[in-house]
Amino acid sequence: MTDGDSLTTFIARCREILDTKTEPAEIVRRIAPAMLAVAAGHKEFLRPEHRRCDPTHYARNCIYLSNDGSLSLFALVWLPGQWTPVHDHGSWGVVGVLEGILEERNYMSVDGEIKRDNGIRLRRGGMTLLPAGAVTTFVPNPDHIHVTGVAAERAPTLSLHLYGRNMNSFHIYDVENGTRRLIDVPHHQAH
Ligand SMILES: [Fe+2]
Repeated sequence: MTDGDSLTTFIARCREILDTKTEPAEIVRRIAPAMLAVAAGHKEFLRPEHRRCDPTHYARNCIYLSNDGSLSLFALVWLPGQWTPVHDHGSWGVVGVLEGILEERNYMSVDGEIKRDNGIRLRRGGMTLLPAGAVTTFVPNPDHIHVTGVAAERAPTLSLHLYGRNMNSFHIYDVENGTRRLIDVPHHQAH
């Protein structure tokens, strides 16, 4: 197997699953084992630009973006103490941790699916610690809302994030005021 093969195989497998399944829960159930294999395997497909970090913010390095915008894969590099805002995804997603420990703190919508940008009632849910090799998934509607990051006392962390769309925007939530707004999410084009 050459450097690009594991990534090419993974993307081809995802495409195959997407061509036959449309239900998000079924898509992530089928992609999760493929992500687990990537997380456990050699990572030669990760080029230096995929490992780029940013001292001011966690770094999103684009590895793959399909022409039709139905699939995107990012390498996220987290320095200790870097966190996302409270956000959703508007898509299914599959996350695999390659190095370090990624932490997820979940929020639950008290009223189910969120259809407005205000009057949103979120309650804190549980949290997950994802060590290298771990895979987690989510599906939308009701959207999976969380904060993701790496605690200040932990090591830098590298994770792969696959989404069922071009993940160039998401809602961020103001939990206290019960509001949300859609923001553009920049990424570093690494290919
Ligand atoms: Fe997220």
